[in-house]
Amino acid sequence: MSNVAKLEYNGQVYELPIITGTENESSVDIRKLRDTTGLVTFDDGYKNTGSTKSKITFIDGDKGILRYRGYGIEELAEKAEFMEVAYLLIYGKLPNEAEYTEWKKQMTRHSLVHEDVKKVFDAYPTGAHPMGQLMTMVGMMSSFYPNSQDPQKMEEDRNLTIIRVMSKMPNLCAMMYKKRIGHPVMYPTNELRYVEDYLSMTFGNPCEKFTVDPVVASALNKLLILHADHEQNCSASTVRMVGSAGTNLWATISAAIAALWGPSHGGANQEVLEMLQEIKDSGITTKQYVEKVKNKEAGVRLMGFGHRVYKNFDPRATIIKKSADDVLKKLGVVDPLLDIAMELEQMALSDSYFVERKLYPNVDFYSGIIYRALGYPTDMFTVLFALGRLPGWVAQWKEMVEEKQPICRPRQIYMGETPRAYQSIKDRK
Ligand SMILES: CC(C)(COP(=O)(O)OP(=O)(O)OC[C@H]1O[C@@H](n2cnc3c(N)ncnc32)[C@H](O)[C@@H]1OP(=O)(O)O)[C@@H](O)C(=O)NCCC(=O)NCCS
Repeated sequence: MSNVAKLEYNGQVYELPIITGTENESSVDIRKLRDTTGLVTFDDGYKNTGSTKSKITFIDGDKGILRYRGYGIEELAEKAEFMEVAYLLIYGKLPNEAEYTEWKKQMTRHSLVHEDVKKVFDAYPTGAHPMGQLMTMVGMMSSFYPNSQDPQKMEEDRNLTIIRVMSKMPNLCAMMYKKRIGHPVMYPTNELRYVEDYLSMTFGNPCEKFTVDPVVASALNKLLILHADHEQNCSASTVRMVGSAGTNLWATISAAIAALWGPSHGGANQEVLEMLQEIKDSGITTKQYVEKVKNKEAGVRLMGFGHRVYKNFDPRATIIKKSADDVLKKLGVVDPLLDIAMELEQMALSDSYFVERKLYPNVDFYSGIIYRALGYPTDMFTVLFALGRLPGWVAQWKEMVEEKQPICRPRQIYMGETPRAYQSIKDRK
């Protein structure tokens, strides 16, 4: 296979090196393009742009493959604990027993948040969206740790910030939920594992002993693993964009949360549930809803369908669909929205509109049904996505800092006015 690509422009031929990744994906190295040819590339939405080299996550969208550090998502979802996967993503290897014990110890040692944080929650208006709250709360945490503000510091300091971010996030997510429903905030319990502790801070209360349902804990563990990283998606690219300016980890994660909030990204899980609820409440049939989507009625998309990278199936959706079925059965929940979802999926999978555009259910299509069965209100769904995605964001940030990625500064194709003279206000049309 050729190791250069040739570009002919203005009568000259330029050779552009080919970079091949470990999974044999090839790319054209255009880093010297502007200097040698005067050209820049145009790729809005970065559909063809490799923005970085990375060793964290591999996706083959055509084959439906997703691997974290070489491990298949199916095996990790089946066998691993979320905290093992977090360690794997961040440090590049599955922890051995000693490493895992130490990692879990660090997670519990740093899980408390400053008591003043509660006062900030008090200032939010009733009904404030949890993602808006989470975004500001995480960004604000940098004020409590001024030492974390220089990411280029010693590795040890950087690692302490990583541990703080990872260990305080469940506490912040749970605290927000408690504040919202007017319940007292629960403190972390060190004997509990990460996922169990988060559930206990969310659903426990000081009046009685809370026992975590193993079915719920295992379902959430799986969901968090499935969401843990997804290479250079919108929020991970935000991490690299914001972090490339030398911004601290707290503020960088806050920016990633903002990106995730959007309905084209993580916010889709909330939108899916709202869509299913709307179909149920309005009494229209799934067929009628699909027709609205196909007719491209304003703002109507089949939420939870389609993906920028997966064009045949999303491997996470396959696991989640099965899990939704299992969890609902085990918890004895009968949810008519699950039936609507299955009907919609069947209809879309056999409809030429969706088939031709390669639109398949994505990770968000069934996850909301499980979150709902676990007892979460709809607007908390994207918060759960953020909790799951946190180790991926941290890993992307750490890799970027350690590899000394240059500041992200894309070019543009300017399409505006050419130079013109200022007119006094009375001469303007
Ligand atoms: C995920 C998503 C943003 C990917 O977008 P993309 O790769 O840029 O694809 P495009 O928006 O260019 O869509 C390509 C075509 O499919 C259509 N399409 C894409 N997703 C669609 C959906 N969910 N429902 C209906 N039509 C959809 C577009 O209208 C477009 O049709 P056209 O060729 O007739 O103009 C998009 O599929 C989407 O909005 N899905 C719903 C939101 C969602 O579930 N997001 C979570 C992603 S994990």
